[in-house]
Amino acid sequence: MAERILITGGTGYIGSHTAVVLSQLGHDIVLYDNLSNSSDAILDVLQEITGKPIPFVKGDIRDTDLVIHTLKSHNIDAIIHFAGLKAVGESVEKPLDYFANNIQGAISLLKALQTQSINTFIFSSSATVYGEPQYLPFDEEHPTNALTPYGRSKKHVEEILKDLASSNPALRISCLRYFNPVGAHESGLIGENPKGKPNNIMPFIAQVAIGDREELCVFGDDYPTSDGTGVRDYIHVMDLAEGHASSLAFLENNTGWHAFNLGSGTGFSVLELIHAFEEEANCTIPYRIIGRRAGDIAEYYSNPDKAAKLLGWKTKRNLNEMCSSTWQFQKKLN
Ligand code: NAD
Ligand code: UFG
Repeated sequence: MAERILITGGTGYIGSHTAVVLSQLGHDIVLYDNLSNSSDAILDVLQEITGKPIPFVKGDIRDTDLVIHTLKSHNIDAIIHFAGLKAVGESVEKPLDYFANNIQGAISLLKALQTQSINTFIFSSSATVYGEPQYLPFDEEHPTNALTPYGRSKKHVEEILKDLASSNPALRISCLRYFNPVGAHESGLIGENPKGKPNNIMPFIAQVAIGDREELCVFGDDYPTSDGTGVRDYIHVMDLAEGHASSLAFLENNTGWHAFNLGSGTGFSVLELIHAFEEEANCTIPYRIIGRRAGDIAEYYSNPDKAAKLLGWKTKRNLNEMCSSTWQFQKKLN
């Protein structure tokens, strides 16, 4: 059923791809973002891709009154909450910023939601809630022992949502634990375009490939993994976006609080990722092995069975498609 959906953080990387998928499924979308890590220039691009204008409100999620006004004036039925700070390393240096934005922000949004009796809420959580693996692959029952303020902010919001769901049986809440989102829309018009030096590996590789950066630093080759470099479960951002559509459909028939891993179930090492990118971009990525990055975990990947069973969702795009779409986007940017 078509719904009117508020997407917080909607001009950001994952929010914008999700907006495309949901708009093309016939939902009415409203984007809400303070533009702290994105630009409203994306609105024209989204219109070009979807063929229709997408309403946008510039605002902070901590401005509860503005959120309430937005929910009322657009008659919103459901919220997908992407807005927040997401740099793991920065969260260690500025924990209060992360708690203020990610936790206070979520509380403000939920207060606004309650005033309008909106029941459907999807939260962008993260695989970082699990912390050091006690076993692999991570399933949703794995204990959550997040290691950084960023990861703890996600874990706390998940717990707030669980308490809220216990207090009100009408609520329908999904916490989607993303593994490592990469890649871009097939048009090459939207993708991940971080401000400043990328923290994440895929945009860094793409900037090396295009010649904006000299070389990639590989953070450690002495991990107990197949080739010594870190292993992650990379997921194409369009698969991830489609996971939100599946979650929305699931919540139509299910109340309560639910957590789902959104990942492919397969881990790739840093060197495997570099080689896949080289193949797709037909280039060589110069790299240098340096020491480990503080706080990195050697290896983790998802068990995606719960999402397959209950959401009817699984990833469709492989590592090569993640690299080729990133490359198409990077070439159009430059
Ligand atoms: P992004 O930075 O591209 O998008 C987040 C958007 O939220 C930005 O447009 C930013 O301007 C906006 N924003 C930040 N604080 C805000 C506030 N207080 N009020 C209104 N808008 C605000 O990040 P992304 O990669 O698209 O991530 C989206 C969500 O997914 C985040 O919550 C992030 O923690 C989560 N997540 C991301 C990853 C990843 O690797 N990209 C992995 C797991 C989870
Ligand atoms: N890496 C490098 N060089 C770089 C950047 C990263 O070797 O320049 C390595 C890392 O050590 C790690 C892998 O590449 O082994 C992936 O690192 P990213 O920084 O791309 O991603 P993380 O796994 O650290 O974290 C990401 C997001 C989090 C999210 C998490 C979910 O940044 O927000 O995935 O799994 F929560």
